[in-house]
Amino acid sequence: MGRKIMTTGSALTPPSGTDRIVILDFGSQTTHLIGRRIREQGIFAEIVAGTAPMEDWIDEGVRGVILSGSPSSIHDEDAPLPDRRIYSRGIPLLGICYGLHVTAHLLGGEISRAETREYGPAPVEVVTNHEITSGVSRRFTSWMSHGDAIRRLPPGAREIATTSHGVTAIVTIPEASFVGLQFHPEVTHSEQGLQILDNFAAGVCQARRQWSVENYLEQLQGELRSQAGDKPILLLISGGVDSSVVAALLLQTFPPEQIHLMYIDTGLMRKDESVEIGAALRKLGARNLYLIDAEERFLSALAGAVDPEKKRHIIGDLFISVQEDEIASRLSGDYLLAQGTLYTDLIESGHGSGGTAKSIKSHHNVASPLVKKKREAGLILEPLAALYKDEVRDLGRLLGLPEEIVGRHPFPGPGLGVRVLGEVTRERCDILREADAIFIRELRKAGLYDAIWQAFAVLLPIQSVGVAGDSRAYGNVVALRAVTSTDGMTADVYGFEPAFLRTVSAAITNGIPQVGRVVYDCSGKPPATIEWE
Ligand code: XMP
Repeated sequence: MGRKIMTTGSALTPPSGTDRIVILDFGSQTTHLIGRRIREQGIFAEIVAGTAPMEDWIDEGVRGVILSGSPSSIHDEDAPLPDRRIYSRGIPLLGICYGLHVTAHLLGGEISRAETREYGPAPVEVVTNHEITSGVSRRFTSWMSHGDAIRRLPPGAREIATTSHGVTAIVTIPEASFVGLQFHPEVTHSEQGLQILDNFAAGVCQARRQWSVENYLEQLQGELRSQAGDKPILLLISGGVDSSVVAALLLQTFPPEQIHLMYIDTGLMRKDESVEIGAALRKLGARNLYLIDAEERFLSALAGAVDPEKKRHIIGDLFISVQEDEIASRLSGDYLLAQGTLYTDLIESGHGSGGTAKSIKSHHNVASPLVKKKREAGLILEPLAALYKDEVRDLGRLLGLPEEIVGRHPFPGPGLGVRVLGEVTRERCDILREADAIFIRELRKAGLYDAIWQAFAVLLPIQSVGVAGDSRAYGNVVALRAVTSTDGMTADVYGFEPAFLRTVSAAITNGIPQVGRVVYDCSGKPPATIEWE
């Protein structure tokens, strides 16, 4: 068995005997996208801390190394540095943005510091042939996000492509087996980016396409069995794709009596969600199924709370205490806690294997005291912790989950608690539930649901004026959000036809008397996040 894939206390390992690409993470928001793109090509990619010593991650399976971007500049005093031994190992290296700058700096080049960060599309022209641009058109548009650029190339370096401003866009340093990109090939806005990443992984590194969820399933089940033995396993079901896939996986890996499924209805769920979940779990063969109605407890704890992080913590903490109360009456001893944590969840909460990414929002499923306790005791099962969202969906399909569950848009742990902006009350949750259900119904009717990563309604904490009959009235405002994304790390606004938005708006204002106005959120991520709070 190989090394642990991350320090979560789970027994997950990279697929044994599989070729892989290691990504040194210097804290870029897009590090995971690099991993996702490489895996999409059937090559396993794993993220490790950018500053980790080489012996922590190198072995015979590593075919190449990618140095990620970073919010840091090489001119910063505490700029993160890779283990310098990678440059004399003969292993193929690809530096992206900061990964290029740090390499050029360490190998004797000079990096200029720009006054402002350059962000957006930049035309690139290929000037020298190289395997990295094989099959790539001579001119293409790349996506830049950087402050620094190369002023003087390190000795022996060769320029492969430049931008229209004469900035080095692609460079090789053959002595260090290094290729560097000034732009980000992993973001979808970079034309040819996928091709360039694949040219590196499959071409330059000669990594074999051995990775698929199907190949991984058997190994995963074996590891889960050896980790859990015959201890009871408790899984908290949220209704989302991830916990549903974990439920299906556990029920197909262990005898159903060993699995305890608990669903806590916080009162912050979508319309009809609780009933549908109960039915779906029974269908999966669940025997120990606990459906807890905790709406009252959550709404009274939330009364008066308006700060988003405070609301998240109230919900997260109460979730744990309700869970502990409910578990105590049903399970005792050393039970395992299973979670649908994904590879990206860990890094977004600052606990990731990369170790340097900044915490964006507190995700209670990672940071809760119970999870910590269970983690320390080695009693946590996170079967999806090595997987990206699309891979989890593939796994769900493989396990026979219906498309309505597998294809369901992600839903945040704190639920409507972070979609009813400001104070959360039952009345406001009910208004939002109706609006959201109408939006989703119209999306399905128009055949748009599956083209969208996540769509939902948000209830704003303001009233706006409108006309009701002959008089003026103040009504609630609902914002609609619909984005496309591959893993939620970045997102583009979905471009609806105006007529569709008008239909949804009319359906909401006609169907819900308390709503007087509907607006559409046009901001991408970055700079906005997907959720409003
Ligand atoms: P943001 O809003 O950070 O969302 O762009 C990225 C993805 O994460 C989900 N999200 C959460 N999930 N607890 C969760 O379990 C949370 O507190 C939380 N906040 C955001 C969001 O729905 C999107 O899919």
